[in-house]
Amino acid sequence: MEPLSFVAAHGLKMIGGYVVGHLAWKLYPRKENFKELMRITFIRSGLFVRVTKGKYVYEQTPKLISFRQESWGFTFKYRLIPGLSPSQFISKSEEIGTAFNGESIIYGIGNELVVEILRLSLPDLEYWSIEKIKDKADGMSIPIPLGITRKGFEVIDLVKAPHGMVGGQSGSGKSVFVRGVLTTLAVLKTPQQLTMTLIDLKHGVELGMFKHLPHVIGFARKPSEVMEVLGKVNAMMDERGELFEKAGVNEIALYNKFPDVEKLPYHLVLVDELAELDNKALDIIDRIARLARFTGIHMLLATQRPDKDVMPGGIKANIPLAIAFKCKNDVNSKILLDHGGAAHLPPIKGRAIVQYNGERQAQSLLLEEHIAKAIIQPLERKEETSDGTKRKGNPSTHYYI
Ligand SMILES: Nc1ncnc2c1ncn2[C@@H]1O[C@H](COP(=O)(O)OP(=O)(O)OP(=O)(O)O)[C@@H](O)[C@H]1O
Ligand SMILES: [Mg+2]
Repeated sequence: MEPLSFVAAHGLKMIGGYVVGHLAWKLYPRKENFKELMRITFIRSGLFVRVTKGKYVYEQTPKLISFRQESWGFTFKYRLIPGLSPSQFISKSEEIGTAFNGESIIYGIGNELVVEILRLSLPDLEYWSIEKIKDKADGMSIPIPLGITRKGFEVIDLVKAPHGMVGGQSGSGKSVFVRGVLTTLAVLKTPQQLTMTLIDLKHGVELGMFKHLPHVIGFARKPSEVMEVLGKVNAMMDERGELFEKAGVNEIALYNKFPDVEKLPYHLVLVDELAELDNKALDIIDRIARLARFTGIHMLLATQRPDKDVMPGGIKANIPLAIAFKCKNDVNSKILLDHGGAAHLPPIKGRAIVQYNGERQAQSLLLEEHIAKAIIQPLERKEETSDGTKRKGNPSTHYYI
């Protein structure tokens, strides 16, 4: 049976001779249908320019230059036409996603427009659980659980990235994400495998609960403490560099393979609110971003206000992993992703765009504070005092190299 007569026989809605509606791809999943469905969706959403040629008037939509069917949906790339801007398409992203029974991410690059359709919609809520993470984290040195993406439950190794940026407006999910990362690392890694420097200039409210972990060898909650802890990371980087030079290797993984050396732990520098750092501190962050990766030092930087002052080009160029929660505007989103997509994410807490080996939406994992605390507490550093009672130790000022 011809496809159109099949459709007619089943009483489906026809517009202009084409099948419209999200059932189309299920009934007759051919490339041409998807392209046509998008063209019709554009027209139905008013995203066209009326063109008169002789006695004919027609609706011109952007010209499709590429179409890819992905495991998770589709990527359409269009050449924009005068009279239509990316923002007009972005404002209709919900309609466009719905037409495909999914969600859309739309953004412009130069005079091109990219429309990604995520056909399998993500859950609105996904809880953190070490059970879900631990198998995927196997073999990773700094496993970062991203949450649910179209690749399934996704965990990546920060060591490969080698640094990451977490951005998004207030209340979008940055600190909850960071809490999930730190709890994961505390559970899966020993202090011999991974140490950490935590900087939380929001008075230690978010990261304070982690400061008694034996992994945490530097903790700053006041601007005056930042230079001290960053200075130590800087020194660690230089000392490791010299050590490697003497040993004739150029990276930590090779150094740690020598049978007769004390193994060096990886080191994570985590900053919650990069915008609170002053220029001197940002200079060190910049240096770490450029030079530290081979010494096993990696950074995760969270900020509410990704802008040019906080993220000078140098820092950004060396941070290929971006996790962009909902941003206030296109400008903030562009600093993180090079396009405005994160300003147009659906208003779902924990929803983000991840840019790393391609781009995808993620629903990050919810880990509530009281649950994280209960998991962390048994792992905390304890020190015996002279009267035999145990008390929490403070982050050591001794730095491993
Ligand atoms: N992944 C998530 N799933 C469900 N709810 C979430 C998620 N992430 C955050 N939330 C909810 O949103 C609230 C705010 O999140 P969070 O504290 O992470 O925001 P933030 O981006 O750090 O904001 P700020 O910049 O103000 O510090 C959380 O208390 C929680 O209720
Ligand atoms: Mg926060």
